[in-house]
Parts: sequence; structure tokens; C-alpha cells
Amino acid sequence: MSLNKGKSLCMFSAKGGVGKSVNILNLAGVCEHLDKKVLIIDFDLYSGSIATYVNKKFKKSVYDLAEDVLNNRFTVIKDYVVSVDDYIDVLPAPKDPRDAGKLDVRTIPDIIKIAEGYYDIVLIDTNHALNDINLFILENVSEVLFMTTNDPLDLKSLRSLIAIFKDLEITNYKVLLNNSRDPFKSYFSLYDIKHILKTNIDYTLSVDMFLKDMEKYIMDGIIISLDKKFSSVMSKDYQTFLVIATDLLGGDKK
Ligand SMILES: Nc1ncnc2c1ncn2[C@@H]1O[C@H](COP(=O)(O)OP(=O)(O)OP(=O)(O)O)[C@@H](O)[C@H]1O
Ligand SMILES: [Mg+2]
Repeated sequence: MSLNKGKSLCMFSAKGGVGKSVNILNLAGVCEHLDKKVLIIDFDLYSGSIATYVNKKFKKSVYDLAEDVLNNRFTVIKDYVVSVDDYIDVLPAPKDPRDAGKLDVRTIPDIIKIAEGYYDIVLIDTNHALNDINLFILENVSEVLFMTTNDPLDLKSLRSLIAIFKDLEITNYKVLLNNSRDPFKSYFSLYDIKHILKTNIDYTLSVDMFLKDMEKYIMDGIIISLDKKFSSVMSKDYQTFLVIATDLLGGDKK
């Protein structure tokens, strides 16, 4: 195994459909521009869509890696990942949801450590359930990035989640307000949102990033941030992703 000591980030939310998967890919694209090797682990075990988004067929998944780690059969990570390009690899979620239910959560800390050994940045996509799988992930990553939209129920749910985090004494989290998911939902000002959440907003994705032709990107498997127009037309959001990446690389692991 290489001696690389990468950083890991899990994008998490209190509700589904806020834009985690799309923006994990965008963050990966910007990390590529920083010359960083990135692994996206799709821990959305029952309905993962990262490999599907980038139109990649795969044989092995995070479940196979977990099984091999458990049975001391793991040798090299390349046997389990699919490459999007020279910088970005994906460790897919299982094709068969029955495998998802069998994944031994005790392997999760090892999987994250192994991945950090090979890659500069490990990005973890997951669903919004506060279950054992996600708790193991949240407790073992360098940083948790909560994503919320400007939607009242989403914000209230995140407030409860942050309170649980405080109880669990997990402090290595930041908050990303995603205004690009739905341009018609901008109910509250930034001041109100901070008040509702009782915490700071670390990063914001602007409404400029809302794409009317999102389906084209998804059908063609194109990562938005790797599209040439992204850094110019959406320069503010490009900068935001750069700051998220450099903060992660500069931050200390808890
Ligand atoms: N910038 C954008 N412009 C237009 N549509 C977007 C944008 N970002 C996300 N979407 C759309 O929002 C939907 C949800 O996005 P995504 O799948 O990334 O959310 P998620 O938080 O990962 O959801 P889940 O919790 O179900 O995994 C998708 O249909 C996606 O196409
Ligand atoms: Mg998702």
C-alpha cells in the first residue's frame, strides 16, 4: 500500500435529494484541477448512483472490498474501483441491494483508512439515514460536510441533526447551503438560516449553478465541474469548491 495520507470527506444531509451526489462529483472534478487523486466511495448502499451517473459498468463494489478486508483477502484497491479518468476513481455501491444488507459495518473504518492510503482525497457519498453504516462513516472521516437547501423542513431537520452531533461530540463538520438545487426555493436569508440552524454556514453554492439542462449532463455522464464553461460561467461556485477542497487538505484529522 502507498504511504499517502489522504483526507476524507462525507457529504451528509438530514433529508434526501438535496444535491449530495451531483456535488460530490463536482467536488471531485475541482480536486482533479488541483492535481489530486480522488476516490469516491458510494456508500449509498441501497440506491447508489455514482457509477451510473458517470456511465461506468462495474463488477466489484464496496461490498466486495468489505468482504475481502474481513477475510484478509484484500491486496490492492485497483481491483475494486472503476476509473472515470486519470484522477478520479469510483468504488461503487453494490448492484444487488441484498449485498448492501450484508455489509459488515465494522469494516468501514478500515475501508476509509485503506482508501486514504491510496488517494489524496476520499469523498464519501451516502444517504441521509442516521443508521449504523452512516454513523461508522461519520465517525471515521476527516470531515463531514452537511448539505442543506433553503427549504424550511430541510433546515429544521438539519438543526435536529446538528444537535445530535453535538450530543455525540462530533465536531468536525461544516455546513454547505445549496441554493442550486432548486432556484424557486429561497425562503430565508442567510441571517435567518444561521438563526434556524444555530450554527455558521461555511460555504454556499449559488443559484447560478442551477442547470436547466441537467438531464444532458446526467445522460452523458459529464461531471459539471469538468465542463470548460464551469470555471468561467460559474466562477463563484468554482471558487467555493476550491475552498472546500483546500480547507479539507489543510485541516487536521480529528
Ligand atoms: N445544479 C443543479 N441543477 C439542476 N438540477 C440539479 C442540480 N443539482 C442537483 N439537481 C437535481 O436534483 C436531484 C437530486 O440531486 P442528487 O441526486 O445529487 O441529490 P442527493 O442529495 O444525492 O439525493 P439522495 O438523497 O436521493 O441521494 C437530481 O435529480 C439532480 O438532477
Ligand atoms: Mg445521492
